[in-house]
Parts: sequence; structure tokens; C-alpha cells
Amino acid sequence: MSKVLYIKANIKPEGVSRTFQVSDHFIEEYKKQHPEDEVVELDLYKEKIDFLRPEDLETMGCIKDETKKNTTFLKYAFQFAEADKYVIAAPMWNLGSPAILKAYFDYISITGITFHYTAEGPKGLLQNKKAVHIVARGGEYGNAPYEMGDRYVKTILGFLGVSDIQTLAIENLDIIGADVEAKVKEGKEKADLIAKEF
Ligand SMILES: Cc1cc2nc3c(=O)[nH]c(=O)nc-3n(C[C@H](O)[C@H](O)[C@H](O)COP(=O)(O)O)c2cc1C
Repeated sequence: MSKVLYIKANIKPEGVSRTFQVSDHFIEEYKKQHPEDEVVELDLYKEKIDFLRPEDLETMGCIKDETKKNTTFLKYAFQFAEADKYVIAAPMWNLGSPAILKAYFDYISITGITFHYTAEGPKGLLQNKKAVHIVARGGEYGNAPYEMGDRYVKTILGFLGVSDIQTLAIENLDIIGADVEAKVKEGKEKADLIAKEF
């Protein structure tokens, strides 16, 4: 049985967000294909993920202290480390991802939990895990160097040791005359294919 962590980073609600229309569809299909797996949803806005505070930096140095294990700060990092698969749903905002997703990565990138320092430098502790990043965009980017959302998600996950990362991008949603319904449908079809193998 695998544990899937479904991380949602959009202020828009389900049904309205094009990202969530595709990612929720992905999760439905995934559950059909893998009924034995556990899927935990983590909506970063509902969780009220915030910027790091001075006391969080102090807690960072006490990860072995059992009394700190359930602090808001550390619980997300332990939860992340315990999952086997990650589904990250986040729209493109200003060439990157919503800031709350970066804030979340600040919560979960903790020495001794998700990565550690070795004589050769930092090394990710999350081995044999996989991720899919589902993103809706107003325009078209592909691999453009100024696309920094998917690039960052892949880089930070790679830093933490996750090497199997796919992207499902739905693009050109805001161009004039776009057939949004058709593009979302196409995104859901791609989601079906990925969910089978994920
Ligand atoms: C604050 C904000 C910033 C955005 N910045 C970009 C951008 O830099 N590039 C782009 O292609 N689309 C941008 N968009 C458009 C969204 O990526 C697009 O509408 C997408 O469908 C949003 O996904 P959603 O429907 O899941 O919210 C932006 C939208 C918002 C609300």
C-alpha cells in the first residue's frame, strides 16, 4: 500500500480552478486504479501555511525532541517524509507557483527529516518516491527559461531526493478565443494515462 500526499496550492476553489479540475480528476482516477492506497489531501490555504517565524528556526534544530514532533512546523516535514508519492496541484502565478507553495517547501525542507548534510554536501533523504506536478497556465511556456514554477518544483524535489517527477501542464487557457473546456478535457485525458502508471 502506498501513501499519496495530494498537495493543493490555489486560492480558487474546486470546480472553479482549472488546475483542481484536472488534479481532482487525477486523484479520482488514481483511486480507481489503486483502491488499496491511502490518499491524504493537504490544502495549503486551508492549512493556513505561513512564512517561517523565528521560533520555527529554533525548532529546526530540535527534530529529535519528541515533544516538538507535532508542532505545526515539524508535522508537515514528517508527513512529507512518510509519503511515497506526491501530487502537487498549483497554477502558474507570475511565472512561478503561488507563494504559499514556496512557504510549504520552507516548512518541509528540514535537515535530518527530508535531507541531510554529508562530507560531499547536502543529500536528499527521500529515495524511491515519485511526484506529479499538475499546473494550469494562462499562456504557453514549454521549457522557456523564465518558467520558474515547474522548474522550482522539480529542483527542490530533486534536492530532497525525489527523482521520478512528471509534469502535467494545461496551457494557453487565457488566450483570447481559447476553448477552455476542450483544454481541460485534454488535461483530464492526460491525467487518466498518468494515473494508471503512477
Ligand atoms: C495572480 C495570478 C498570476 C498569474 N500569472 C500568470 C503568468 O505569469 N503566466 C501565465 O501564463 N498565466 C498567469 N496567470 C493565469 C493563470 O495561470 C491561469 O488563469 C490558470 O488557468 C490559473 O489556474 P486555475 O484556473 O487553476 O486558477 C496568473 C493568474 C493569476 C491569478
